[in-house]
Amino acid sequence: MIKSAVVPVAGQGTRLLPATKSQPKEMLPVARKPIVQYVVEELVANGVEQVLFVTGRNKTSIENHFDHDPELFRALSQANKQDLLQELDFRALQAKFFYTRQRLPKGLGDAILCAENFAGEQPFVVALGDSILGLHACSRAVSRMTEIFEERRASCVIAVEEVPPEETRHYGIVQPENGPEDCFRIVNLIEKPEPGRAPSNLAIAGRYVFSPLIFDMIRRVQPDKRGEIQLTDAIQMLCEEGRRVMAVRLAAEEKRYDIGNFPSYFESFVEFALADPVYGQEFRHVLERLLAKAAVAS
Ligand code: UTP
Repeated sequence: MIKSAVVPVAGQGTRLLPATKSQPKEMLPVARKPIVQYVVEELVANGVEQVLFVTGRNKTSIENHFDHDPELFRALSQANKQDLLQELDFRALQAKFFYTRQRLPKGLGDAILCAENFAGEQPFVVALGDSILGLHACSRAVSRMTEIFEERRASCVIAVEEVPPEETRHYGIVQPENGPEDCFRIVNLIEKPEPGRAPSNLAIAGRYVFSPLIFDMIRRVQPDKRGEIQLTDAIQMLCEEGRRVMAVRLAAEEKRYDIGNFPSYFESFVEFALADPVYGQEFRHVLERLLAKAAVAS
Protein backbone atom coordinates (compact mmCIF):
# COMPACT_ATOMS: atom_id res chain seq x y z
CA MET A 1 0.00 0.00 0.00
CA ILE A 2 1.39 3.41 -0.97
CA LYS A 3 1.15 5.82 1.94
CA SER A 4 2.84 8.99 0.66
CA ALA A 5 1.41 11.67 -1.58
CA VAL A 6 2.75 14.86 -3.08
CA VAL A 7 0.35 17.75 -3.70
CA PRO A 8 1.87 20.48 -5.89
CA VAL A 9 0.32 23.86 -5.09
CA ALA A 10 3.05 26.24 -6.24
CA GLY A 11 1.58 27.37 -9.59
CA GLN A 12 0.72 31.01 -10.21
CA GLY A 13 -2.87 30.42 -11.23
CA THR A 14 -2.73 33.18 -13.83
CA ARG A 15 -5.89 31.94 -15.53
CA LEU A 16 -7.82 32.79 -12.36
CA LEU A 17 -6.55 36.35 -11.92
CA PRO A 18 -7.51 38.62 -10.26
CA ALA A 19 -8.91 36.10 -7.74
CA THR A 20 -5.44 34.60 -7.34
CA LYS A 21 -3.43 37.82 -7.08
CA SER A 22 -2.58 37.26 -3.41
CA GLN A 23 -4.25 33.95 -2.56
CA PRO A 24 -3.59 30.46 -3.85
CA LYS A 25 -6.11 29.09 -6.33
CA GLU A 26 -6.01 25.86 -4.31
CA MET A 27 -7.65 27.78 -1.43
CA LEU A 28 -10.60 29.03 -3.49
CA PRO A 29 -13.81 27.60 -2.04
CA VAL A 30 -15.93 25.11 -3.92
CA ALA A 31 -19.19 25.39 -1.97
CA ARG A 32 -18.09 25.21 1.67
CA LYS A 33 -14.49 24.02 1.53
CA PRO A 34 -11.26 25.12 -0.13
CA ILE A 35 -10.31 22.94 -3.09
CA VAL A 36 -7.17 21.58 -1.45
CA GLN A 37 -9.17 20.27 1.53
CA TYR A 38 -11.17 18.03 -0.82
CA VAL A 39 -7.89 16.80 -2.30
CA VAL A 40 -6.50 15.89 1.13
CA GLU A 41 -9.74 14.19 2.18
CA GLU A 42 -9.70 12.11 -0.99
CA LEU A 43 -6.09 11.07 -0.43
CA VAL A 44 -6.70 10.06 3.18
CA ALA A 45 -9.79 8.06 2.15
CA ASN A 46 -7.49 6.23 -0.28
CA GLY A 47 -5.02 5.16 2.41
CA VAL A 48 -2.51 8.02 2.23
CA GLU A 49 -0.88 8.79 5.59
CA GLN A 50 1.61 11.52 4.74
CA VAL A 51 1.22 14.44 2.41
CA LEU A 52 3.93 16.75 1.11
CA PHE A 53 2.69 20.09 -0.23
CA VAL A 54 5.02 21.70 -2.73
CA THR A 55 4.22 25.35 -2.05
CA GLY A 56 5.60 28.71 -3.13
CA ARG A 57 5.34 32.38 -2.30
CA ASN A 58 1.84 33.59 -1.34
CA LYS A 59 0.83 30.06 -0.32
CA THR A 60 1.11 30.22 3.47
CA SER A 61 -2.67 30.16 3.86
CA ILE A 62 -2.53 26.47 2.86
CA GLU A 63 -0.26 25.69 5.82
CA ASN A 64 -2.46 27.79 8.09
CA HIS A 65 -5.57 25.99 6.92
CA PHE A 66 -4.35 22.57 8.05
CA ASP A 67 -2.71 23.89 11.23
CA HIS A 68 -4.27 24.08 14.69
CA ASP A 69 -5.66 27.52 15.55
CA PRO A 70 -5.93 27.80 19.37
CA GLU A 71 -7.89 31.07 19.35
CA LEU A 72 -10.48 29.84 16.88
CA PHE A 73 -10.67 26.54 18.78
CA ARG A 74 -11.34 28.42 22.04
CA ALA A 75 -13.98 30.67 20.47
CA LEU A 76 -15.83 27.75 18.85
CA SER A 77 -15.64 25.71 22.07
CA GLN A 78 -17.10 28.59 24.11
CA ALA A 79 -19.89 28.95 21.55
CA ASN A 80 -20.41 25.17 21.71
CA LYS A 81 -20.05 24.76 17.94
CA GLN A 82 -19.28 21.06 18.07
CA ASP A 83 -19.97 20.40 14.39
CA LEU A 84 -17.49 23.01 13.23
CA LEU A 85 -14.91 21.92 15.80
CA GLN A 86 -15.15 18.41 14.44
CA GLU A 87 -15.00 19.54 10.85
CA LEU A 88 -11.92 21.65 11.48
CA ASP A 89 -10.04 19.03 13.47
CA PHE A 90 -7.64 17.90 10.75
CA ARG A 91 -5.75 15.77 13.29
CA ALA A 92 -8.70 13.37 13.03
CA LEU A 93 -7.62 12.67 9.45
CA GLN A 94 -4.60 10.90 10.99
CA ALA A 95 -2.34 12.22 8.25
CA LYS A 96 0.97 13.99 8.64
CA PHE A 97 1.54 17.16 6.63
CA PHE A 98 4.90 18.29 5.29
CA TYR A 99 5.77 21.40 3.31
CA THR A 100 8.55 22.34 0.95
CA ARG A 101 8.93 25.23 -1.45
CA GLN A 102 9.44 25.34 -5.17
CA ARG A 103 11.70 28.38 -5.53
CA LEU A 104 10.13 29.52 -8.82
CA PRO A 105 7.04 28.13 -10.56
CA LYS A 106 9.06 26.39 -13.28
CA GLY A 107 6.45 23.82 -14.18
CA LEU A 108 4.84 20.73 -12.72
CA GLY A 109 7.87 18.53 -13.40
CA ASP A 110 10.10 20.90 -11.45
CA ALA A 111 7.56 20.95 -8.59
CA ILE A 112 7.60 17.14 -8.37
CA LEU A 113 11.40 17.14 -8.29
CA CYS A 114 11.13 19.10 -5.01
CA ALA A 115 9.65 15.90 -3.48
CA GLU A 116 12.72 13.74 -4.09
CA ASN A 117 13.94 13.63 -0.48
CA PHE A 118 10.41 13.11 0.82
CA ALA A 119 9.82 10.11 -1.45
CA GLY A 120 13.23 8.51 -0.95
CA GLU A 121 13.22 5.03 -2.51
CA GLN A 122 9.45 4.57 -2.23
CA PRO A 123 6.67 4.98 -4.79
CA PHE A 124 4.29 7.88 -4.20
CA VAL A 125 1.03 9.42 -5.37
CA VAL A 126 0.80 12.85 -7.00
CA ALA A 127 -2.51 14.71 -6.71
CA LEU A 128 -2.84 18.13 -8.33
CA GLY A 129 -3.94 20.65 -5.74
CA ASP A 130 -6.43 22.30 -8.11
CA SER A 131 -8.39 19.20 -9.14
CA ILE A 132 -11.16 17.41 -7.23
CA LEU A 133 -12.19 13.89 -8.28
CA GLY A 134 -15.89 13.19 -7.93
CA LEU A 135 -18.65 15.12 -6.20
CA HIS A 136 -17.45 15.74 -2.62
CA ALA A 137 -14.15 14.03 -3.53
CA CYS A 138 -15.75 10.58 -3.48
CA SER A 139 -13.21 8.98 -5.86
CA ARG A 140 -11.39 5.78 -4.98
CA ALA A 141 -9.31 5.91 -8.17
CA VAL A 142 -6.06 6.40 -6.26
CA SER A 143 -6.61 3.06 -4.46
CA ARG A 144 -7.18 1.30 -7.79
CA MET A 145 -4.11 3.02 -9.21
CA THR A 146 -1.82 1.95 -6.34
CA GLU A 147 -3.10 -1.64 -6.69
CA ILE A 148 -2.36 -1.65 -10.43
CA PHE A 149 1.05 -0.10 -9.74
CA GLU A 150 1.96 -2.99 -7.46
CA GLU A 151 0.26 -5.82 -9.39
CA ARG A 152 1.69 -4.80 -12.76
CA ARG A 153 5.08 -3.64 -11.41
CA ALA A 154 4.53 -0.37 -13.22
CA SER A 155 6.81 2.67 -13.20
CA CYS A 156 3.87 5.04 -13.46
CA VAL A 157 0.07 4.88 -13.33
CA ILE A 158 -2.02 7.79 -14.59
CA ALA A 159 -5.71 8.52 -14.04
CA VAL A 160 -7.42 9.27 -17.34
CA GLU A 161 -10.83 10.60 -18.25
CA GLU A 162 -12.79 10.73 -21.49
CA VAL A 163 -13.11 14.23 -22.96
CA PRO A 164 -15.12 15.33 -26.02
CA PRO A 165 -12.93 14.63 -29.12
CA GLU A 166 -13.09 18.30 -30.19
CA GLU A 167 -11.53 19.37 -26.87
CA THR A 168 -8.31 17.34 -26.94
CA ARG A 169 -6.27 20.50 -27.54
CA HIS A 170 -6.80 21.49 -23.88
CA TYR A 171 -5.35 18.30 -22.36
CA GLY A 172 -2.48 15.85 -22.20
CA ILE A 173 -3.80 12.88 -24.23
CA VAL A 174 -2.64 9.27 -23.86
CA GLN A 175 -2.00 6.73 -26.60
CA PRO A 176 -3.19 3.26 -25.48
CA GLU A 177 -1.14 0.22 -26.53
CA ASN A 178 -4.32 -1.72 -27.45
CA GLY A 179 -7.98 -0.84 -27.08
CA PRO A 180 -8.62 1.37 -24.08
CA GLU A 181 -10.16 -0.74 -21.32
CA ASP A 182 -10.65 0.30 -17.68
CA CYS A 183 -6.94 -0.23 -17.15
CA PHE A 184 -4.44 -0.32 -20.02
CA ARG A 185 -0.84 0.24 -20.98
CA ILE A 186 0.20 3.55 -22.55
CA VAL A 187 2.82 3.79 -25.29
CA ASN A 188 2.92 7.58 -25.60
CA LEU A 189 1.46 10.87 -24.41
CA ILE A 190 0.81 13.97 -26.46
CA GLU A 191 0.41 17.40 -24.88
CA LYS A 192 -2.60 19.34 -26.19
CA PRO A 193 -3.02 17.70 -29.64
CA GLU A 194 -5.42 19.10 -32.24
CA PRO A 195 -8.43 16.75 -32.60
CA GLY A 196 -7.08 15.27 -35.87
CA ARG A 197 -3.74 14.36 -34.26
CA ALA A 198 -5.05 13.03 -30.94
CA PRO A 199 -4.29 9.31 -30.44
CA SER A 200 -7.44 8.94 -28.26
CA ASN A 201 -9.86 11.13 -26.35
CA LEU A 202 -8.52 10.05 -22.95
CA ALA A 203 -7.01 12.93 -21.01
CA ILE A 204 -4.63 12.88 -18.05
CA ALA A 205 -6.80 13.68 -15.04
CA GLY A 206 -4.64 15.09 -12.24
CA ARG A 207 -3.69 11.92 -10.32
CA TYR A 208 -0.53 9.83 -10.79
CA VAL A 209 1.46 7.10 -9.05
CA PHE A 210 5.21 7.14 -9.64
CA SER A 211 8.23 5.06 -8.85
CA PRO A 212 11.20 7.22 -7.78
CA LEU A 213 12.56 6.61 -11.28
CA ILE A 214 10.55 9.64 -12.37
CA PHE A 215 13.06 11.98 -10.70
CA ASP A 216 15.86 10.93 -13.08
CA MET A 217 13.54 11.45 -16.03
CA ILE A 218 12.51 14.93 -14.83
CA ARG A 219 16.17 15.90 -14.53
CA ARG A 220 16.64 14.99 -18.19
CA VAL A 221 13.69 17.06 -19.45
CA GLN A 222 14.58 20.25 -21.32
CA PRO A 223 12.55 23.34 -20.38
CA ASP A 224 9.79 24.23 -22.86
CA LYS A 225 9.31 27.58 -24.65
CA ARG A 226 8.10 29.18 -21.42
CA GLY A 227 11.05 27.81 -19.45
CA GLU A 228 8.86 25.20 -17.69
CA ILE A 229 9.78 21.58 -16.98
CA GLN A 230 6.76 19.52 -18.00
CA LEU A 231 5.85 16.36 -16.12
CA THR A 232 4.32 14.83 -19.26
CA ASP A 233 7.75 15.03 -20.97
CA ALA A 234 9.24 12.98 -18.12
CA ILE A 235 6.43 10.39 -18.40
CA GLN A 236 7.00 10.25 -22.15
CA MET A 237 10.64 9.35 -21.45
CA LEU A 238 9.44 6.46 -19.28
CA CYS A 239 7.39 5.25 -22.26
CA GLU A 240 10.34 5.65 -24.64
CA GLU A 241 12.56 3.60 -22.32
CA GLY A 242 10.00 0.80 -22.48
CA ARG A 243 9.00 1.17 -18.81
CA ARG A 244 5.50 0.10 -17.95
CA VAL A 245 3.23 3.15 -17.86
CA MET A 246 -0.40 2.28 -17.13
CA ALA A 247 -3.65 4.23 -17.23
CA VAL A 248 -6.69 3.78 -15.03
CA ARG A 249 -9.96 5.21 -16.29
CA LEU A 250 -12.06 7.32 -13.94
CA ALA A 251 -15.63 6.08 -13.49
CA ALA A 252 -18.45 8.47 -14.46
CA GLU A 253 -19.06 9.42 -10.81
CA GLU A 254 -15.36 10.24 -10.38
CA LYS A 255 -15.49 13.13 -12.84
CA ARG A 256 -12.55 15.51 -12.55
CA TYR A 257 -13.34 19.04 -11.45
CA ASP A 258 -10.39 21.03 -12.77
CA ILE A 259 -10.46 24.41 -11.09
CA GLY A 260 -7.76 25.96 -13.26
CA ASN A 261 -10.05 28.24 -15.29
CA PHE A 262 -13.14 30.30 -14.58
CA PRO A 263 -15.80 28.37 -16.58
CA SER A 264 -14.87 25.14 -14.85
CA TYR A 265 -14.54 26.86 -11.45
CA PHE A 266 -18.05 28.33 -11.79
CA GLU A 267 -19.49 24.98 -12.86
CA SER A 268 -17.78 23.12 -10.00
CA PHE A 269 -18.98 25.63 -7.41
CA VAL A 270 -22.58 25.46 -8.60
CA GLU A 271 -22.60 21.64 -8.79
CA PHE A 272 -21.18 21.26 -5.27
CA ALA A 273 -23.46 23.98 -3.87
CA LEU A 274 -26.53 22.26 -5.38
CA ALA A 275 -25.45 19.01 -3.71
CA ASP A 276 -24.90 20.64 -0.33
CA PRO A 277 -26.91 18.70 2.27
CA VAL A 278 -27.92 21.85 4.18
CA TYR A 279 -28.02 24.69 1.65
CA GLY A 280 -28.49 22.78 -1.62
CA GLN A 281 -32.27 22.88 -1.78
CA GLU A 282 -32.51 26.58 -1.07
CA PHE A 283 -29.72 27.32 -3.54
CA ARG A 284 -31.61 25.37 -6.21
CA HIS A 285 -34.62 27.68 -5.78
CA VAL A 286 -32.40 30.77 -6.00
CA LEU A 287 -30.78 29.45 -9.15
CA GLU A 288 -34.14 28.62 -10.77
CA ARG A 289 -35.38 32.11 -9.95
CA LEU A 290 -32.24 33.71 -11.43
CA LEU A 291 -32.47 31.58 -14.58
CA ALA A 292 -36.14 32.46 -15.05
CA LYS A 293 -35.30 36.15 -14.64
CA ALA A 294 -32.42 35.89 -17.12
CA ALA A 295 -34.70 34.10 -19.63
CA VAL A 296 -37.25 36.92 -19.44
CA ALA A 297 -34.52 39.55 -19.85
CA SER A 298 -32.98 37.94 -22.94
P1 UTP B 1 -1.43 24.42 -13.77
O1 UTP B 1 -0.96 23.65 -14.92
O2 UTP B 1 -2.90 24.73 -13.72
O3 UTP B 1 -0.57 25.77 -13.72
O4 UTP B 1 -1.00 23.65 -12.46
P2 UTP B 1 -0.68 27.08 -12.86
O5 UTP B 1 0.61 27.78 -13.02
O6 UTP B 1 -1.10 26.80 -11.44
O7 UTP B 1 -1.90 27.91 -13.49
P3 UTP B 1 -1.95 28.94 -14.73
O8 UTP B 1 -1.69 28.12 -15.96
O9 UTP B 1 -0.95 30.03 -14.46
O10 UTP B 1 -3.36 29.47 -14.67
C1 UTP B 1 -1.54 22.41 -12.03
C2 UTP B 1 -1.11 22.18 -10.58
O11 UTP B 1 0.33 22.15 -10.50
C3 UTP B 1 0.81 23.13 -9.59
C4 UTP B 1 -0.32 24.15 -9.46
O12 UTP B 1 -0.26 24.81 -8.21
C5 UTP B 1 -1.57 23.31 -9.65
O13 UTP B 1 -2.03 22.77 -8.43
N1 UTP B 1 2.07 23.72 -10.13
C6 UTP B 1 2.11 24.18 -11.42
C7 UTP B 1 3.17 23.82 -9.31
O14 UTP B 1 3.14 23.40 -8.13
N2 UTP B 1 4.32 24.41 -9.81
C8 UTP B 1 4.39 24.89 -11.08
O15 UTP B 1 5.46 25.40 -11.47
C9 UTP B 1 3.27 24.76 -11.91
